[in-house]
Amino acid sequence: MSNYHIKNLEEYYQVYRKSVQEPGDFWGEVAEEHFLWHKQWDQVLEYDFSLPMVKWFDGAQLNITENCIDRHLLTKGDQTAILFEPNDPTEAAQHITYQELHERVNQLANVLKSQGVQKGDRVCIYLPMIPELTISLLACARIGAVHSVVFAGFSSMALASRINDSTCKIVITSDGSFRGKKTIDLKSIVDEAVSTCPCVDQVLVVKRINSDIVMQEGRDQWLQPLLDKASKVCAPEIMEAEDPLFILYTSGSTGMPKGMVHTTAGYMVYTAYTFKNVFQYKANEVYWCTADIGWITGHSYIVYGPLANGATTLMFEGVPSYPDYSRFWEIIEKHKVNQFYTAPTAIRALSKESLSYVEKHDLSSLKVLGTVGEPINEDAWHWYNDNIGKKKCPIIDTWWQTETGGVMISPIPFSTPTKPTYATLPMPGIQACLMDAEGLPITTSPAEGNLCIEFPWPSMARTIWGNHQRYKDTYFSAYPDKYFTGDGALRDEVGYYRITGRVDDVIIVSGHNLGTAPIEDAINEHPAVAESAIVGFPHDIKGNALYGYVILKETGTTRLHDNLRKEINQIITEHVGPIAKLDTIQFTEGLPKTRSGKIMRRILRKIACKEMSNLGDTSTLLNPEIIDSIIEGRLG
Ligand code: PRX
Repeated sequence: MSNYHIKNLEEYYQVYRKSVQEPGDFWGEVAEEHFLWHKQWDQVLEYDFSLPMVKWFDGAQLNITENCIDRHLLTKGDQTAILFEPNDPTEAAQHITYQELHERVNQLANVLKSQGVQKGDRVCIYLPMIPELTISLLACARIGAVHSVVFAGFSSMALASRINDSTCKIVITSDGSFRGKKTIDLKSIVDEAVSTCPCVDQVLVVKRINSDIVMQEGRDQWLQPLLDKASKVCAPEIMEAEDPLFILYTSGSTGMPKGMVHTTAGYMVYTAYTFKNVFQYKANEVYWCTADIGWITGHSYIVYGPLANGATTLMFEGVPSYPDYSRFWEIIEKHKVNQFYTAPTAIRALSKESLSYVEKHDLSSLKVLGTVGEPINEDAWHWYNDNIGKKKCPIIDTWWQTETGGVMISPIPFSTPTKPTYATLPMPGIQACLMDAEGLPITTSPAEGNLCIEFPWPSMARTIWGNHQRYKDTYFSAYPDKYFTGDGALRDEVGYYRITGRVDDVIIVSGHNLGTAPIEDAINEHPAVAESAIVGFPHDIKGNALYGYVILKETGTTRLHDNLRKEINQIITEHVGPIAKLDTIQFTEGLPKTRSGKIMRRILRKIACKEMSNLGDTSTLLNPEIIDSIIEGRLG
């Protein structure tokens, strides 16, 4: 039996037991046998959740790109590492071999060095899903720079706040991006952002759409000419196990998005380990994750996990609806995809379209179907299983978070019997538990509670960039000595977990985490708005949509409400991005508040969902009379 590759349920239980009883030995063996180190660790794990402090493989030295690229060159130099499928299906796909990836990563690493980027410097990457995106992450890692990828759908203000928070000195972007029929002018978004970022002295620009953009002298440079001059050899920087690898921002319930810091060795070991087991990837197979690299799913399961296993990882630039709704299925047929990993929101959207889009394609190459990002409802689960997997491919519902770095709860295909809507069992090394309303662990099953993890795992985020106290407050304060996920979950009689959703003020819309605070702050910037509150309500395709309650400064204002609605969504688009636009806006004269002035979102959520008969305890409200008028507004 190998700790690294689980092949049946009995092995899973054996490996799991070992990972809990002897975590140091377990992860030590995995790390030693499957990765390239310049120096062994002094200690596998050191931790104290009360601080919190977590160190994995401390004292070890390595470079993650040697593990993701160099060590495959001898045996897999000619194998495709990145299979790039462009937005336009008539443009040729690109097969980038491990050898070519090695050269291109080294060239970009040398360019970054020549532009003054040093180990530990932060590099912001704002690129569409093109090969240069993956190459940029790896080039940073090659020289020990910390990458901070910002999803290229975020607005200039959202981009600027992330750049400033981690004081990036350089931005890598493109002249634009293709998205279905549209092109998006990324460079002007960067221009606007960087005008408020004193830390940035350079912008490197990839040519993708050949648009006519303005290059600011002394600051902006086209990347290609620099690459042409750069050497294809770049010695990897030797990194300490706990050196930061990247920062990735995720929304919180309040305040500025949190820059989650992931470090090198533990992240590498855990993403590689979970990739192997969760997808049961075998040599020469083609694996496709449809996420954007702007999110953690792309970091861990398009870039690092697959490449650490020498896999062929497909990157898709476009959208599932272009040129028509058969695009995903067409790509699966064209590239004979074996493992397909997507989000429930995509499955729901595609399941609403005619089945003929699916049926005209040969999907027989598929072996494993994954899902991630939000709870998958029963209908979507069955549609995916019946029509895409033809009931032959296990549905792998993977639960995890930006903070966890890798998959935490998931079936292991061909080993764990699946159950619709259940993420099933924790991965080896993951000690999950449920907490009750009194803050005590629930030891019996079936049960429902708040999901926590009671022991460190290698890929957990180590801190929030520049704000360790916030890290402690957010994740380690609700329950002493436990990591609190912010999710609620059910556990059935055999120990399978089903994630029920967020128990805080984070709302997941189309698989994107959105905090209410930045959206409310944006709305409140509108001169006519006095106050606002956002809640989520169920939506057929997006999972949740946003419902906004808005109080205007002048009641009975004569301005047309429809215009105001448009303006409010415009402001949200500018401050956060179009993904945070509100589906419904209700103007109201007040918001239900507690005596300490806190908005009672629980009540607003129920009203948005039209669950008025069950509003719960309203006795602690300062202004209970407002509820009737809000209900009237909702129904009217
Ligand atoms: O609420 C959970 C939900 O997505 C949150 C994490 O979002 P993010 O950090 O953006 O990472 C998403 C991709 C890993 C979780 O707290 N979530 C993620 N996967 C699932 C899920 N909810 C239910 N089922 C899942 N499989």
